[in-house]
This record gives sequence, C-alpha cells and structure tokens, in this order.
Amino acid sequence: MMASSSAPPIASVWLILSLFMALGSVSPQAEARAFFVFGDSLVDNGNNNYLLTTARADSPPYGIDFPTHQPTGRFSNGLNIPDIISQRIGSEPTLPYLSPELTGQKLLVGANFASAGIGILNDTGVQFVNIIHMPLQLEYFRRYQQRLSALVGVQKAKQVVNQALVLITLGGNDFVNNYYLVPFSARSRQFSIPDYIPFLISEYRKILQTLYKYGARRVLVTGTGPLGCVPAELAMRSRNGECSAELQRAAALFNPQLVQMLNGLNNELGSDVFIGANTMGMQNDFINNPRAFGFVTSKIACCGQGPYNGIGLCTGASNLCPNRDLYAFWDPFHPSEKANRLIVETLMTGSTKYMYPMNLSTIMALDSKIGSSL
Ligand SMILES: *[C@@H]1O[C@H](CO)[C@@H](O)[C@H](O)[C@H]1NC(C)=O
Ligand SMILES: *[C@@H]1O[C@H](CO)[C@@H](O)[C@H](O)[C@H]1NC(C)=O
Repeated sequence: MMASSSAPPIASVWLILSLFMALGSVSPQAEARAFFVFGDSLVDNGNNNYLLTTARADSPPYGIDFPTHQPTGRFSNGLNIPDIISQRIGSEPTLPYLSPELTGQKLLVGANFASAGIGILNDTGVQFVNIIHMPLQLEYFRRYQQRLSALVGVQKAKQVVNQALVLITLGGNDFVNNYYLVPFSARSRQFSIPDYIPFLISEYRKILQTLYKYGARRVLVTGTGPLGCVPAELAMRSRNGECSAELQRAAALFNPQLVQMLNGLNNELGSDVFIGANTMGMQNDFINNPRAFGFVTSKIACCGQGPYNGIGLCTGASNLCPNRDLYAFWDPFHPSEKANRLIVETLMTGSTKYMYPMNLSTIMALDSKIGSSL
C-alpha cells in the first residue's frame, strides 16, 4: 500500500518537472517575433540622431504626441509605421541600431536600421552628407546578427532572424531627393523616367536578395506614397491644389513594377518571402476623400510654413495645428500618426487591392501555424 501509493507522487513530480522544463523551452517561442526595419525617414526610429546630418527630427514639435511628448528622431507627431506594427505584433518599438540601449535581451526585439534621406541608390540623399545608405544598413544587419549570436548562440540567432518580420520602405527619395531634387539633376540627364524606374527596380532587387541572403524570410515591401500630392510638392509645383502630375506619374509607374519584381523573386524562391503593399493606393484614398477618414485636409501639413505649410522644414518657429489627428500630413513630407494608423490597418487587413499576395494578418496566422508545428 505504502509502496504503491508512493510511486505515483514521484511520477507526478517528474511529470511536473518535465512540464516546467517544456514550458521553459517554449516561452521564448511565445515572445513576439523579432522585427527588423530598413529604409528611409518614413520608418527611421532615430538613427540619424547619432549622425552629423541635416536629415533629422530631434527637436520640437516632432514627437509632440509621442508617449513622452519629446522628439525622438521619428518623422511624425507621434508614432510612425514601424511603431504601430510593433504594437500589432505585441512587441516593444524597435530601437535604432545606433542606440547604445540596443544590447542584451533588447537584441531579441529586433532592430531598426532605417536612416532618413536615403534611397535605393547610393547617390540619393548625398546632400544630407552623413546618412546610412542601404549597403551600410545591410552591413549593420550582419553585425547585429554577430552580436545576437554572441548572446544566444548561432543556431538560435539564425532562427530569430528566419522567423522575424522585416519591413523595408524605399524609393520615394530616389525621386524627390535625387531625380527631381534640382532641374537637370545628374540622374535626370542620364535617364528618362520610363528608363530610370527599371534601373531603380533592378537595384532594389539586389537589396532584397541581400536581405534574403542574410536570413530574412518574411519581408513587407512598401511602394512609394503619392509623391506628387505631399504638401512640399503642392507648395513647389501646384497652382490650385492639384497634385503634381509628373511625380504622380512616376509613382504610378514605379509601384506596379515593384510588385512585378517581388512576384518574380517569390517565384524564383518558391515561397512568398516578399509581401508588396500598395501604399500609394492607401494614401490616395484619404487624399481623394479626406473627410471620409476624419481629416479636415490632406493638402495642408500640420507643421510648416508657406503655401500648404509645405515650404522648408517643420521647426519650433513653424505654424502648428492644434489637433494633429485632423491632418493627413504632419509635415511637408510625412504622414501624421493618425494617417500612419490607417496605413497599418490596411497592411494588416487590406484586401488584395492593397496587399500582394496577401495581408499581414493572414501572413501572421500562417507563420504562427508554421512556428507551432516546428
Ligand atoms: C553602392 O555602394 C555599394 C557599396 O559601397 C556598392 O557595392 C554598389 O555597387 C553601389 N551601387 C551602385 C549602383 O553603384
Ligand atoms: C486579409 O486577407 C485575407 C486573405 O486574403 C482575406 O480573407 C481577408 O478578408 C483580408 N482581410 C480583409 C479585412 O479584407
């Protein structure tokens, strides 16, 4: 009796112990997946704060609606697109790669390599002097992985990167801060727009292949926004508020060719690694019908000066609107937090009119099935 009744407790202690051990090894899986961000000012979380460059957003009123109400380097009144994606995947915001806080366990959250002013091409944004062009963002990704490997081991680091979500936002600056920056720019003398775009796409393709080589397996690739409709272009090129036809035409040529290139890469890889997002379509919706989205205007920036508040930079001396949620554009180039939320909502749940081949919530459901079957 004693012997037979003492046996089960030992077995259950063992069972409980193994359950604990199983839980211990499962809990890292239950953490949010890592998130890596590459690209330009639309997605920079503050890398340029650490650089000697004029492309920066580290003084008020930038950050006025951020939780701390302080400028952080984000080109937004509050959160930007990667911050809102981080929220959606249940994660902390990505730290800038150059932040001294990016050490230890924080490395597991991911990292943000983006740098305001850069483009697909190395010669885009050269006027900002000291910014992190794509080849260096990719090199930093490699160095980040060495640091992660030192923390968790090579195998685990590889798994974190393979299972991560990646966002890359590029291309707008190759038009506004390169081709169209000045009349008779070097690139505009070299290429007509119908020839420039395939050149950009072929360079972008190489960047995405390098991301894949470095372990990225789920990459959200956004197209350019409606370049001709931003307050800066309205101020420079518009007579009565109509969008710049030339810049809109360029964006309308670029975006479908980008999707076609992503399809080609996915076919080659035999997997939906690259997810295209029609950010121009999303933003055109609220540019064409701002009131339907709760905006009073999609033409005038909240912060700026001159026509449409579109001239120069947003600074402490600029006009500043009292309610940022009523404006589609925060500054002459960048959407407000409210607009960023609408964009991320469409990334998550948008139909195939906006997301190719599928939206992010579908991807995340797929990936969690794969993750749990591993
Ligand atoms: C951009 O720079 C990188 C590294 O400096 C170089 O490998 C690459 O060929 C350059 N791209 C172009 C299109 O010149
Ligand atoms: C997200 O994508 C899935 C699959 O394409 C689709 O079934 C779903 O309707 C999409 N969500 C919305 C809100 O359209």
